[in-house]
Amino acid sequence: MTAHAFDLVLRHARVATASDVFEADIGIRAGRIAQLGNDLPRGEREIDAAGRVVTPGGVDAHCHLDQPMAPPLRMADDFETGTRSAACGGTTTVIPFAAQAKGQSLRAAVADYHHRAEGRASVDYAFHLIVSDPTPTVLNEELPALINEGYTSFKVYMTYDDLKLDDGQILDVLDVARRHGAMAMIHAENADCIEWLTKRLEAAGRTAPRFHAHARPMLVEREATHRAIALAELVDVPILIVHVSGREAVEQIRWARAHGLKVFAETCPQYLFLTAADLGVDDSYQGARCVCSPPPRDKANQEVIWDGLNDGLFSVFSSDHAPFHYDSPEGKKPGGEEVAFRHIPNGIPGIETRMPLLYSEGVLAGRMTLEKFVELTATGPAKAYGLHPRKGSIAIGADADLVVWDERELVLSNAMLHHAVDHTPYEGMPLRAWPGLTISRGEVLWDGQRFLGRAGRGRFLNCGAPSLLPRRG
Ligand code: URP
Ligand code: ZN
Ligand code: ZN
Repeated sequence: MTAHAFDLVLRHARVATASDVFEADIGIRAGRIAQLGNDLPRGEREIDAAGRVVTPGGVDAHCHLDQPMAPPLRMADDFETGTRSAACGGTTTVIPFAAQAKGQSLRAAVADYHHRAEGRASVDYAFHLIVSDPTPTVLNEELPALINEGYTSFKVYMTYDDLKLDDGQILDVLDVARRHGAMAMIHAENADCIEWLTKRLEAAGRTAPRFHAHARPMLVEREATHRAIALAELVDVPILIVHVSGREAVEQIRWARAHGLKVFAETCPQYLFLTAADLGVDDSYQGARCVCSPPPRDKANQEVIWDGLNDGLFSVFSSDHAPFHYDSPEGKKPGGEEVAFRHIPNGIPGIETRMPLLYSEGVLAGRMTLEKFVELTATGPAKAYGLHPRKGSIAIGADADLVVWDERELVLSNAMLHHAVDHTPYEGMPLRAWPGLTISRGEVLWDGQRFLGRAGRGRFLNCGAPSLLPRRG
Protein backbone atom coordinates (compact mmCIF):
# COMPACT_ATOMS: atom_id res chain seq x y z
CA MET A 1 0.00 0.00 0.00
CA THR A 2 1.40 3.43 -0.97
CA ALA A 3 1.47 6.09 1.71
CA HIS A 4 -0.27 9.24 0.51
CA ALA A 5 1.64 12.50 0.31
CA PHE A 6 -1.31 14.37 1.83
CA ASP A 7 -4.33 13.66 4.01
CA LEU A 8 -6.46 15.80 1.74
CA VAL A 9 -5.99 17.57 -1.59
CA LEU A 10 -8.35 20.22 -2.93
CA ARG A 11 -7.87 20.10 -6.71
CA HIS A 12 -7.93 23.02 -9.14
CA ALA A 13 -9.19 25.49 -6.58
CA ARG A 14 -9.56 29.18 -7.40
CA VAL A 15 -7.59 30.19 -4.31
CA ALA A 16 -8.29 33.66 -2.94
CA THR A 17 -6.01 35.39 -0.45
CA ALA A 18 -5.99 39.00 0.73
CA SER A 19 -3.51 39.82 -2.04
CA ASP A 20 -4.06 37.40 -4.95
CA VAL A 21 -6.42 35.02 -6.71
CA PHE A 22 -4.78 32.05 -8.48
CA GLU A 23 -5.52 28.48 -9.49
CA ALA A 24 -3.81 25.78 -7.45
CA ASP A 25 -4.16 22.46 -5.71
CA ILE A 26 -4.05 22.72 -1.91
CA GLY A 27 -2.23 19.85 -0.18
CA ILE A 28 -3.14 19.35 3.48
CA ARG A 29 -1.17 17.29 5.97
CA ALA A 30 -1.73 16.99 9.72
CA GLY A 31 -4.24 19.81 9.74
CA ARG A 32 -2.00 22.33 8.00
CA ILE A 33 -1.48 23.55 4.47
CA ALA A 34 1.61 21.63 3.37
CA GLN A 35 1.83 22.58 -0.30
CA LEU A 36 0.27 24.83 -2.91
CA GLY A 37 0.91 24.11 -6.57
CA ASN A 38 -0.22 22.40 -9.73
CA ASP A 39 -0.42 18.62 -10.15
CA LEU A 40 0.25 17.81 -6.50
CA PRO A 41 0.60 14.08 -5.70
CA ARG A 42 -2.52 12.27 -4.54
CA GLY A 43 -4.01 12.69 -1.12
CA GLU A 44 -5.75 10.07 0.97
CA ARG A 45 -8.90 12.10 0.27
CA GLU A 46 -9.44 14.23 -2.82
CA ILE A 47 -11.95 17.04 -3.33
CA ASP A 48 -12.51 18.43 -6.82
CA ALA A 49 -12.78 22.20 -6.42
CA ALA A 50 -12.54 22.98 -10.15
CA GLY A 51 -14.21 26.28 -10.94
CA ARG A 52 -14.91 27.04 -7.29
CA VAL A 53 -13.53 29.83 -5.16
CA VAL A 54 -11.69 28.75 -2.01
CA THR A 55 -11.11 31.38 0.70
CA PRO A 56 -9.57 31.14 4.16
CA GLY A 57 -12.03 30.10 6.85
CA GLY A 58 -13.58 33.17 8.42
CA VAL A 59 -12.28 34.71 11.62
CA ASP A 60 -15.22 36.25 13.47
CA ALA A 61 -13.43 38.58 15.83
CA HIS A 62 -16.49 39.97 17.60
CA CYS A 63 -19.20 37.64 18.79
CA HIS A 64 -20.90 36.95 22.10
CA LEU A 65 -21.45 33.34 23.15
CA ASP A 66 -22.80 32.27 26.52
CA GLN A 67 -21.77 35.60 28.01
CA PRO A 68 -23.11 35.90 31.56
CA MET A 69 -26.05 38.32 31.64
CA ALA A 70 -27.94 40.07 34.43
CA PRO A 71 -30.85 37.72 35.33
CA PRO A 72 -33.37 36.98 33.93
CA LEU A 73 -31.70 37.69 30.56
CA ARG A 74 -29.67 35.01 28.87
CA MET A 75 -27.96 34.36 25.58
CA ALA A 76 -29.50 31.72 23.36
CA ASP A 77 -26.19 30.40 22.01
CA ASP A 78 -23.53 28.67 24.03
CA PHE A 79 -20.19 27.53 22.59
CA GLU A 80 -21.76 24.43 21.09
CA THR A 81 -24.60 26.01 19.13
CA GLY A 82 -22.68 29.22 18.40
CA THR A 83 -19.62 27.52 16.91
CA ARG A 84 -21.79 25.01 15.01
CA SER A 85 -23.58 27.95 13.43
CA ALA A 86 -20.24 29.67 12.73
CA ALA A 87 -18.91 26.57 10.93
CA CYS A 88 -22.03 26.20 8.76
CA GLY A 89 -21.56 29.81 7.64
CA GLY A 90 -17.86 29.46 6.79
CA THR A 91 -16.28 30.71 10.00
CA THR A 92 -13.52 28.56 11.49
CA THR A 93 -12.24 30.82 14.27
CA VAL A 94 -14.29 32.84 16.74
CA ILE A 95 -13.20 35.39 19.31
CA PRO A 96 -15.93 35.97 21.91
CA PHE A 97 -15.50 37.92 25.13
CA ALA A 98 -14.54 36.85 28.64
CA ALA A 99 -16.45 39.61 30.43
CA GLN A 100 -15.49 40.86 33.87
CA ALA A 101 -18.51 41.76 36.01
CA LYS A 102 -18.04 44.76 38.27
CA GLY A 103 -16.54 43.51 41.53
CA GLN A 104 -15.24 40.32 39.90
CA SER A 105 -11.59 39.52 39.34
CA LEU A 106 -10.59 39.45 35.68
CA ARG A 107 -8.84 36.12 36.25
CA ALA A 108 -12.07 34.63 37.62
CA ALA A 109 -13.97 35.88 34.54
CA VAL A 110 -11.44 34.16 32.27
CA ALA A 111 -11.54 30.91 34.28
CA ASP A 112 -15.35 30.89 34.17
CA TYR A 113 -15.35 31.50 30.42
CA HIS A 114 -12.93 28.64 29.79
CA HIS A 115 -15.29 26.45 31.75
CA ARG A 116 -18.20 27.51 29.51
CA ALA A 117 -16.20 26.76 26.34
CA GLU A 118 -14.57 23.50 27.48
CA GLY A 119 -15.76 20.49 25.48
CA ARG A 120 -18.32 22.51 23.52
CA ALA A 121 -16.59 24.38 20.69
CA SER A 122 -16.40 22.81 17.24
CA VAL A 123 -14.18 25.52 15.74
CA ASP A 124 -11.05 27.09 17.21
CA TYR A 125 -11.51 30.02 19.55
CA ALA A 126 -9.61 32.73 21.37
CA PHE A 127 -10.88 35.18 23.98
CA HIS A 128 -10.97 38.95 24.12
CA LEU A 129 -11.35 40.34 27.62
CA ILE A 130 -13.97 42.90 28.69
CA VAL A 131 -12.63 45.17 31.43
CA SER A 132 -15.50 46.66 33.44
CA ASP A 133 -13.78 47.17 36.79
CA PRO A 134 -10.20 48.42 36.44
CA THR A 135 -9.13 48.13 40.07
CA PRO A 136 -5.45 48.55 40.96
CA THR A 137 -5.17 44.74 41.02
CA VAL A 138 -6.63 44.48 37.53
CA LEU A 139 -4.44 47.28 36.15
CA ASN A 140 -1.18 46.31 37.81
CA GLU A 141 -1.39 42.54 38.03
CA GLU A 142 -4.23 40.69 36.31
CA LEU A 143 -4.41 42.51 32.99
CA PRO A 144 -0.63 42.60 32.33
CA ALA A 145 -0.33 38.91 33.26
CA LEU A 146 -3.26 37.89 31.05
CA ILE A 147 -1.90 39.88 28.09
CA ASN A 148 1.39 38.08 28.58
CA GLU A 149 -0.40 34.72 28.58
CA GLY A 150 -2.07 35.34 25.19
CA TYR A 151 -5.21 37.35 25.91
CA THR A 152 -3.85 40.23 23.88
CA SER A 153 -7.00 42.25 23.24
CA PHE A 154 -9.70 43.72 25.43
CA LYS A 155 -12.85 45.73 25.02
CA VAL A 156 -13.94 48.73 27.04
CA TYR A 157 -17.41 50.27 26.98
CA MET A 158 -18.37 53.93 27.11
CA THR A 159 -22.03 52.95 27.61
CA TYR A 160 -24.19 50.35 29.48
CA ASP A 161 -24.42 50.90 33.26
CA ASP A 162 -22.99 47.49 34.16
CA LEU A 163 -19.96 47.81 31.87
CA LYS A 164 -19.11 51.46 31.20
CA LEU A 165 -15.87 53.12 32.26
CA ASP A 166 -15.35 56.83 32.79
CA ASP A 167 -12.64 58.71 30.88
CA GLY A 168 -10.08 58.39 33.69
CA GLN A 169 -10.61 54.65 33.84
CA ILE A 170 -10.30 54.38 30.07
CA LEU A 171 -7.00 56.28 30.21
CA ASP A 172 -5.78 53.80 32.84
CA VAL A 173 -6.60 50.73 30.76
CA LEU A 174 -5.25 52.29 27.56
CA ASP A 175 -2.00 52.88 29.40
CA VAL A 176 -1.84 49.15 30.20
CA ALA A 177 -2.48 48.39 26.51
CA ARG A 178 0.41 50.67 25.53
CA ARG A 179 2.88 49.30 28.06
CA HIS A 180 2.04 45.63 27.49
CA GLY A 181 1.22 45.57 23.75
CA ALA A 182 -2.50 44.81 23.71
CA MET A 183 -5.19 45.89 21.24
CA ALA A 184 -7.83 48.03 22.96
CA MET A 185 -11.30 47.79 21.41
CA ILE A 186 -13.73 50.55 22.23
CA HIS A 187 -17.54 50.62 22.19
CA ALA A 188 -18.06 54.31 21.51
CA GLU A 189 -21.43 55.76 22.52
CA ASN A 190 -22.01 58.59 25.01
CA ALA A 191 -23.83 57.04 27.99
CA ASP A 192 -25.06 60.30 29.57
CA CYS A 193 -26.59 61.55 26.31
CA ILE A 194 -28.32 58.19 25.82
CA GLU A 195 -29.72 58.27 29.36
CA TRP A 196 -30.93 61.87 28.96
CA LEU A 197 -32.64 61.08 25.67
CA THR A 198 -34.11 57.83 26.99
CA LYS A 199 -35.71 59.59 29.97
CA ARG A 200 -37.25 62.24 27.71
CA LEU A 201 -38.62 59.57 25.36
CA GLU A 202 -40.03 57.63 28.31
CA ALA A 203 -41.65 60.76 29.74
CA ALA A 204 -43.38 61.24 26.38
CA GLY A 205 -44.57 57.60 26.39
CA ARG A 206 -42.25 56.69 23.52
CA THR A 207 -41.06 53.29 24.65
CA ALA A 208 -41.62 51.11 21.55
CA PRO A 209 -38.54 49.35 20.09
CA ARG A 210 -38.16 51.93 17.31
CA PHE A 211 -37.34 54.61 19.88
CA HIS A 212 -34.12 52.75 20.67
CA ALA A 213 -32.71 54.42 17.54
CA HIS A 214 -33.97 57.84 18.70
CA ALA A 215 -32.15 57.40 22.01
CA ARG A 216 -28.88 56.60 20.24
CA PRO A 217 -28.57 59.05 17.33
CA MET A 218 -25.33 59.19 15.43
CA LEU A 219 -24.28 62.25 17.41
CA VAL A 220 -23.76 60.12 20.54
CA GLU A 221 -21.56 57.74 18.56
CA ARG A 222 -19.68 60.60 16.89
CA GLU A 223 -18.93 62.33 20.20
CA ALA A 224 -17.76 59.13 21.89
CA THR A 225 -15.66 58.13 18.88
CA HIS A 226 -13.94 61.51 18.96
CA ARG A 227 -13.40 61.23 22.73
CA ALA A 228 -12.00 57.71 22.41
CA ILE A 229 -9.57 58.98 19.77
CA ALA A 230 -8.51 61.87 22.01
CA LEU A 231 -7.97 59.55 24.99
CA ALA A 232 -5.86 57.22 22.84
CA GLU A 233 -3.84 60.17 21.51
CA LEU A 234 -3.16 61.33 25.05
CA VAL A 235 -1.85 57.90 26.03
CA ASP A 236 -0.17 57.42 22.63
CA VAL A 237 -1.65 54.00 21.91
CA PRO A 238 -3.47 52.49 18.88
CA ILE A 239 -7.15 51.64 19.37
CA LEU A 240 -9.81 49.81 17.39
CA ILE A 241 -13.31 51.26 17.33
CA VAL A 242 -15.84 48.42 17.12
CA HIS A 243 -19.20 48.26 15.32
CA VAL A 244 -18.98 51.59 13.49
CA SER A 245 -22.44 52.39 12.12
CA GLY A 246 -22.16 55.32 9.72
CA ARG A 247 -20.85 58.60 8.40
CA GLU A 248 -20.25 60.68 11.52
CA ALA A 249 -18.12 58.06 13.27
CA VAL A 250 -16.33 57.29 9.99
CA GLU A 251 -15.47 60.99 9.64
CA GLN A 252 -13.89 61.02 13.09
CA ILE A 253 -11.75 58.00 12.23
CA ARG A 254 -10.67 59.54 8.92
CA TRP A 255 -9.77 62.74 10.78
CA ALA A 256 -7.66 60.75 13.25
CA ARG A 257 -5.86 58.91 10.46
CA ALA A 258 -5.20 62.18 8.63
CA HIS A 259 -3.53 63.37 11.82
CA GLY A 260 -1.25 60.35 11.90
CA LEU A 261 -3.05 58.48 14.67
CA LYS A 262 -3.32 54.72 14.63
CA VAL A 263 -7.06 54.27 14.87
CA PHE A 264 -8.43 51.03 13.44
CA ALA A 265 -12.07 50.18 12.87
CA GLU A 266 -14.57 47.35 12.64
CA THR A 267 -18.03 47.24 11.13
CA CYS A 268 -20.73 44.58 10.92
CA PRO A 269 -23.42 43.29 8.51
CA GLN A 270 -26.23 45.14 10.29
CA TYR A 271 -24.76 48.46 9.13
CA LEU A 272 -24.82 47.29 5.49
CA PHE A 273 -28.13 45.45 5.35
CA LEU A 274 -30.46 46.91 8.04
CA THR A 275 -31.79 50.41 8.66
CA ALA A 276 -33.53 52.06 11.60
CA ALA A 277 -36.82 51.19 9.86
CA ASP A 278 -36.14 47.54 10.79
CA LEU A 279 -36.72 48.54 14.42
CA GLY A 280 -40.27 49.42 13.37
CA VAL A 281 -42.10 52.16 11.53
CA ASP A 282 -44.97 52.03 14.04
CA ASP A 283 -45.14 51.00 17.68
CA SER A 284 -45.24 47.25 16.98
CA TYR A 285 -42.90 45.11 19.08
CA GLN A 286 -41.55 43.08 16.13
CA GLY A 287 -38.67 45.54 15.72
CA ALA A 288 -37.23 44.38 19.06
CA ARG A 289 -35.53 41.69 16.99
CA CYS A 290 -33.25 44.31 15.44
CA VAL A 291 -32.45 46.29 18.59
CA CYS A 292 -28.67 46.54 18.73
CA SER A 293 -26.17 49.25 19.58
CA PRO A 294 -25.23 51.37 17.80
CA PRO A 295 -28.54 51.04 15.96
CA PRO A 296 -28.69 50.53 12.18
CA ARG A 297 -28.95 53.91 10.39
CA ASP A 298 -30.20 54.58 6.83
CA LYS A 299 -29.38 53.79 3.19
CA ALA A 300 -26.99 56.75 2.83
CA ASN A 301 -25.01 55.53 5.84
CA GLN A 302 -24.90 52.01 4.40
CA GLU A 303 -23.11 53.52 1.38
CA VAL A 304 -20.59 55.21 3.67
CA ILE A 305 -19.87 51.84 5.30
CA TRP A 306 -19.44 50.14 1.89
CA ASP A 307 -16.97 52.88 0.93
CA GLY A 308 -15.05 52.41 4.18
CA LEU A 309 -14.84 48.66 3.61
CA ASN A 310 -13.39 49.19 0.15
CA ASP A 311 -10.98 52.04 0.84
CA GLY A 312 -9.16 50.59 3.86
CA LEU A 313 -10.94 52.44 6.67
CA PHE A 314 -12.08 49.14 8.14
CA SER A 315 -9.65 46.36 9.03
CA VAL A 316 -12.24 43.97 10.42
CA PHE A 317 -15.75 42.82 9.43
CA SER A 318 -17.36 40.98 12.36
CA SER A 319 -20.81 39.68 13.16
CA ASP A 320 -21.25 41.12 16.67
CA HIS A 321 -23.44 38.04 17.08
CA ALA A 322 -25.35 38.68 20.32
CA PRO A 323 -27.96 35.91 20.38
CA PHE A 324 -31.27 36.63 22.10
CA HIS A 325 -34.54 34.83 21.48
CA TYR A 326 -37.45 36.97 20.35
CA ASP A 327 -40.04 34.95 22.22
CA SER A 328 -38.74 34.16 25.74
CA PRO A 329 -36.72 32.40 27.31
CA GLU A 330 -35.47 35.59 28.52
CA GLY A 331 -34.40 37.37 25.41
CA LYS A 332 -36.17 40.23 23.69
CA LYS A 333 -39.39 39.60 25.68
CA PRO A 334 -38.15 38.98 29.20
CA GLY A 335 -40.70 36.85 31.05
CA GLY A 336 -42.80 36.80 27.88
CA GLU A 337 -43.53 40.53 28.27
CA GLU A 338 -43.17 43.31 25.74
CA VAL A 339 -40.93 45.79 27.57
CA ALA A 340 -39.85 49.41 27.08
CA PHE A 341 -36.90 49.70 24.68
CA ARG A 342 -34.53 50.46 27.57
CA HIS A 343 -35.04 46.90 28.82
CA ILE A 344 -34.72 45.06 25.48
CA PRO A 345 -31.39 43.22 25.44
CA ASN A 346 -29.14 44.71 22.78
CA GLY A 347 -27.82 42.57 19.98
CA ILE A 348 -28.78 40.49 16.97
CA PRO A 349 -27.71 37.07 15.69
CA GLY A 350 -25.37 36.87 12.68
CA ILE A 351 -22.47 34.45 13.21
CA GLU A 352 -23.62 32.18 10.35
CA THR A 353 -24.76 34.88 7.92
CA ARG A 354 -21.73 37.21 8.14
CA MET A 355 -19.61 35.52 5.45
CA PRO A 356 -22.40 34.60 2.98
CA LEU A 357 -23.92 38.10 3.16
CA LEU A 358 -20.63 39.79 2.28
CA TYR A 359 -19.63 37.22 -0.33
CA SER A 360 -23.03 37.45 -2.00
CA GLU A 361 -23.78 41.18 -1.76
CA GLY A 362 -20.15 42.32 -1.83
CA VAL A 363 -18.18 40.03 -4.13
CA LEU A 364 -20.90 38.57 -6.37
CA ALA A 365 -22.86 41.81 -6.59
CA GLY A 366 -19.68 43.49 -7.83
CA ARG A 367 -19.25 45.82 -4.86
CA MET A 368 -16.01 44.32 -3.53
CA THR A 369 -13.04 42.33 -4.81
CA LEU A 370 -12.49 38.80 -3.65
CA GLU A 371 -9.15 39.87 -2.13
CA LYS A 372 -10.88 42.57 -0.07
CA PHE A 373 -13.48 40.05 1.10
CA VAL A 374 -10.69 37.78 2.37
CA GLU A 375 -8.87 40.66 4.03
CA LEU A 376 -11.98 41.84 5.91
CA THR A 377 -13.40 38.47 6.95
CA ALA A 378 -10.23 36.51 7.74
CA THR A 379 -6.75 38.00 7.28
CA GLY A 380 -7.51 41.43 8.79
CA PRO A 381 -9.09 40.11 11.99
CA ALA A 382 -6.34 37.48 12.40
CA LYS A 383 -3.74 40.26 12.12
CA ALA A 384 -5.61 42.63 14.41
CA TYR A 385 -5.71 40.08 17.22
CA GLY A 386 -2.43 38.19 16.95
CA LEU A 387 -3.60 35.02 15.19
CA HIS A 388 -1.87 35.59 11.86
CA PRO A 389 -0.32 33.74 9.98
CA ARG A 390 -1.66 30.59 11.63
CA LYS A 391 -5.23 31.75 11.00
CA GLY A 392 -6.77 33.88 8.27
CA SER A 393 -4.64 32.98 5.27
CA ILE A 394 -4.01 30.29 2.68
CA ALA A 395 -0.27 29.84 3.00
CA ILE A 396 2.16 27.00 3.59
CA GLY A 397 2.23 26.20 7.30
CA ALA A 398 -1.10 27.89 8.06
CA ASP A 399 -3.91 25.88 9.62
CA ALA A 400 -5.98 24.29 6.85
CA ASP A 401 -9.08 26.37 7.58
CA LEU A 402 -10.87 26.79 4.25
CA VAL A 403 -14.21 27.58 2.68
CA VAL A 404 -15.22 26.21 -0.73
CA TRP A 405 -17.99 28.45 -2.05
CA ASP A 406 -21.16 27.29 -3.82
CA GLU A 407 -22.41 30.06 -6.05
CA ARG A 408 -26.16 29.41 -6.22
CA GLU A 409 -29.37 31.31 -5.63
CA LEU A 410 -31.07 30.83 -2.27
CA VAL A 411 -33.40 32.63 0.08
CA LEU A 412 -32.19 33.12 3.62
CA SER A 413 -34.44 31.76 6.34
CA ASN A 414 -33.99 31.03 9.99
CA ALA A 415 -34.96 27.41 9.33
CA MET A 416 -31.69 26.82 7.45
CA LEU A 417 -29.47 28.27 10.20
CA HIS A 418 -27.78 26.34 13.00
CA HIS A 419 -27.81 28.81 15.88
CA ALA A 420 -30.24 28.42 18.79
CA VAL A 421 -31.98 31.74 18.14
CA ASP A 422 -35.60 31.80 16.93
CA HIS A 423 -35.09 34.42 14.21
CA THR A 424 -32.70 36.04 11.78
CA PRO A 425 -32.94 39.72 10.90
CA TYR A 426 -32.28 38.72 7.28
CA GLU A 427 -35.33 36.43 6.85
CA GLY A 428 -36.39 36.27 3.19
CA MET A 429 -33.27 37.93 1.79
CA PRO A 430 -32.17 36.48 -1.56
CA LEU A 431 -28.50 35.44 -1.66
CA ARG A 432 -26.20 34.28 -4.45
CA ALA A 433 -23.89 31.98 -2.49
CA TRP A 434 -23.38 29.83 0.59
CA PRO A 435 -20.39 27.81 1.79
CA GLY A 436 -20.41 24.41 0.08
CA LEU A 437 -17.65 23.11 2.37
CA THR A 438 -16.15 24.45 5.56
CA ILE A 439 -12.85 22.84 6.52
CA SER A 440 -11.17 23.34 9.88
CA ARG A 441 -7.62 22.04 10.35
CA GLY A 442 -8.20 19.70 7.41
CA GLU A 443 -11.52 18.32 8.70
CA VAL A 444 -14.77 18.92 6.83
CA LEU A 445 -17.23 20.48 9.32
CA TRP A 446 -19.94 21.45 6.86
CA ASP A 447 -20.64 19.81 3.50
CA GLY A 448 -23.23 22.26 2.28
CA GLN A 449 -26.05 20.29 3.84
CA ARG A 450 -24.96 18.76 7.09
CA PHE A 451 -22.91 19.79 10.09
CA LEU A 452 -20.22 17.12 10.43
CA GLY A 453 -18.26 18.66 13.29
CA ARG A 454 -18.13 17.63 16.89
CA ALA A 455 -18.45 19.63 20.08
CA GLY A 456 -15.07 19.71 21.80
CA ARG A 457 -12.85 19.46 18.71
CA GLY A 458 -12.31 23.25 18.71
CA ARG A 459 -9.05 24.32 20.33
CA PHE A 460 -8.34 27.35 22.44
CA LEU A 461 -5.84 29.71 20.80
CA ASN A 462 -3.44 31.88 22.74
CA CYS A 463 -3.02 35.10 20.76
CA GLY A 464 0.32 36.64 19.94
CA ALA A 465 1.10 40.33 19.59
CA PRO A 466 -1.48 42.01 17.33
CA SER A 467 0.35 42.73 14.06
CA LEU A 468 -1.38 46.09 13.67
CA LEU A 469 0.47 47.36 16.75
CA PRO A 470 3.98 48.78 16.57
CA ARG A 471 6.65 46.11 17.11
CA ARG A 472 7.95 45.98 20.66
CA GLY A 473 11.69 45.97 21.13
O1 URP B 1 -26.06 45.62 20.58
C1 URP B 1 -25.00 45.05 20.67
N1 URP B 1 -23.98 45.40 19.92
N2 URP B 1 -24.86 44.05 21.56
C2 URP B 1 -23.73 43.31 21.84
C3 URP B 1 -22.86 43.98 22.84
C4 URP B 1 -21.94 44.98 22.23
O2 URP B 1 -21.94 46.12 22.67
O3 URP B 1 -21.20 44.67 21.32
ZN1 ZN C 1 -20.21 46.94 21.81
ZN1 ZN D 1 -20.57 43.09 20.67
